[in-house]
Amino acid sequence: MMLAEQYKEIRDMVKKFSDSEVAPLAQKIDHEGHLPKEIIGKLAENGFLGSYVPEEYGGAGMDYMSYALIVEEISRNCASTGVFVSAHTSLGIWPILNFGTEAQKKKYLPKMAAGEWIGCFCLSEPNAGSDAGSLTTFAEDKGDHWEINGVKNWITNGKEAGVCIVFAKTKKTPDYKGISAFIVETSTPGFSIIKEEDKLGIRGSSTCQLAFDKVKVPKDALLGEPEKGFRIAMATLDGGRIGIASQALGIAQGAFDYAIRYTKQRVQFGAPLSDLQGIQFMLADMSTKIGASRLLIYHASSLKDAELPYSKESAQAKLMASESAMWVTTKAIQLCGGNGYTKEYPVERYFRDAKITEIYEGTSEVQRMVIASNELKAVH
Ligand code: CAA
Repeated sequence: MMLAEQYKEIRDMVKKFSDSEVAPLAQKIDHEGHLPKEIIGKLAENGFLGSYVPEEYGGAGMDYMSYALIVEEISRNCASTGVFVSAHTSLGIWPILNFGTEAQKKKYLPKMAAGEWIGCFCLSEPNAGSDAGSLTTFAEDKGDHWEINGVKNWITNGKEAGVCIVFAKTKKTPDYKGISAFIVETSTPGFSIIKEEDKLGIRGSSTCQLAFDKVKVPKDALLGEPEKGFRIAMATLDGGRIGIASQALGIAQGAFDYAIRYTKQRVQFGAPLSDLQGIQFMLADMSTKIGASRLLIYHASSLKDAELPYSKESAQAKLMASESAMWVTTKAIQLCGGNGYTKEYPVERYFRDAKITEIYEGTSEVQRMVIASNELKAVH
């Protein structure tokens, strides 16, 4: 699948930004465990925090394919910065853009596109991960407002967020049927960060446990229809999974590029490693997995842009890209040998960053459930 000219221009523009602004900070972001404020400002200035928000709401008016390219190119140098963009855009902005009222869109989208309010997505809980429908956070109808109580886990951008998309039951059902979605501002009394996780990878991205303790929100904080929140969560994750697939692709491409350069300059047995057929075979397999991931991502993105069903395809893209990223980064360390295992070289960071892509926004097992369920429904 060839990229149309317009996308090549977008890719070149993001590539330049990523190589000049993100790459020099990537090791520091990993070591220090947070994103510098300047980088968030520069992401916003370049339109990367509101890429597919229409211009009338202050965004860059691009499409989903462009967004996928942005996440890939940024993640090629820094996966923490990549997921910051991805979670904010596809999990924070998209549900408001698609399910919000005109008033909600006008209130939130311009500030989110400008990076003044960062978005996060509060679905998972201590006892509700893959089984998202079993969540227990509750929003009680108090007549003139809602009162939300519960704890949310593994929330990307939890520390930076100004706006949370919160899934809470408004009817006490054991399954997904009682779930509604809300837009909650983090300045609301009763919202707090319980803890920030200390993680293996994406160390510059915040992952928080959040408390909602008698959080009082207005009636119009409800997003979409009551008790239709699970559909909003699932539809949002369909798009989010393209973002994480793009992050995984960027990680794999970054590790691969580094390994290629390394094998060309590393001399053993009197010649560069890249002269050895055993090494070339490894590079060929890495390249093929990266190519297959890229095609699945472009395919899912183009279906989404064409407003065609893409749930199965986004799960396939995420499954392929995340498992490929884990495989490619493992090989990248192998190719760099002892050096690759040290923190002086960036491949160990790519390896640590790759692992999460097989877990968040649905584990590889959840992607397989989504793919299989779509296939089983399609054939009679
Ligand atoms: N779009 C819209 N609606 C959908 C849908 C989709 N893609 N998939 C399912 N639904 C709807 C169904 O139509 C059904 O609704 P109705 O009864 O009204 O028709 C409802 O959702 C339930 O469907 P299922 O019976 O298929 O759902 P399930 O309970 O069997 O769950 C699952 C399926 C795929 C396992 C789902 O629970 C799931 O995706 N789990 C993983 C959750 C996940 O990805 N969590 C990650 C959280 S976010 C994160 O990690 C990052 C962060 O920053 C926090």
